[in-house]
Amino acid sequence: MLDQFNRNIYYLRIAVTDKCNLRCTYCMPEEGIKLKAHSDILSFEEIEEVVKAAVKLGFYKFRLTGGEPLVRRGIVDLARQLAAIPGVKTLAMTTNGLLLPEYAQGLKAAGLTRLNISLDSLRPERYREITRCGDLNLALAGIKAARDAGFTGTKLNSVLVDKFNDDEKESLASFAEKNGLKARFIKKMDLKSGEFYKVENGEGGDCSICNRVRLTADGKLRPCLFSNYEVDVRSMGAEAALKAVINNKPARGGKSNNREMIEIGG
Ligand code: 5AD
Ligand code: SF4
Repeated sequence: MLDQFNRNIYYLRIAVTDKCNLRCTYCMPEEGIKLKAHSDILSFEEIEEVVKAAVKLGFYKFRLTGGEPLVRRGIVDLARQLAAIPGVKTLAMTTNGLLLPEYAQGLKAAGLTRLNISLDSLRPERYREITRCGDLNLALAGIKAARDAGFTGTKLNSVLVDKFNDDEKESLASFAEKNGLKARFIKKMDLKSGEFYKVENGEGGDCSICNRVRLTADGKLRPCLFSNYEVDVRSMGAEAALKAVINNKPARGGKSNNREMIEIGG
């Protein structure tokens, strides 16, 4: 469906949970976030309904995000249900990879098309510092599990923070190359100040060609990371909410202070 600025919006990013097994400094405030009540989180049936309505409006690319999508119970079943909906051409996932040893094969069999794995450092201490708790070896095992399960075209997403890990750009690029991954570099964004950049080797961050909207785990559609506008799919119904969010998609990102990054799925 075309928005007011003639951009074709066909890509829906679906946050399936607001929880994560890491606590990356740029994504989550130190004290954590107030988790939503279970009843606020969309059920698989409700997510399916939104995807079906989106397909009717011309969407064909979908991505499961979070929080960390693999911590949502039954995620493989959800992937299978969504991949089976006629009109869903691409069903991708953005994950920190930690649980891929457990789920990669199931996800592949379920019909998940592609993975983006987040990794910001190849140095164990620095990885731990950025993620506030993570074990680099587990992330590396996840990357291996994705390949072993037969995923191809996997992207390696690295958030570069000035003067912190920007010195690792080359080593991350060569790690990606060696492991059959496509390196993508994302400069750290800030919702509250409205600071964002184009993604290197990706399509994010370029407002003039933006093709996406986002669904939060608690059922709010957002036209842009950098806008406070939201509509509720439960009270409006999926199709009306999708039309509203597309019609209210701003020409370009501004600022946002009503959500943390972890709730919107990056
Ligand atoms: N700036 C840039 N990227 C971010 N992500 C999360 N928070 C930020 C931020 N502040 C990215 C993660 C992951 C995806 C879920 O979003 O690194 O790749
Ligand atoms: Fe978790 Fe990803 Fe946020 Fe890190 S960036 S805290 S892995 S959701």
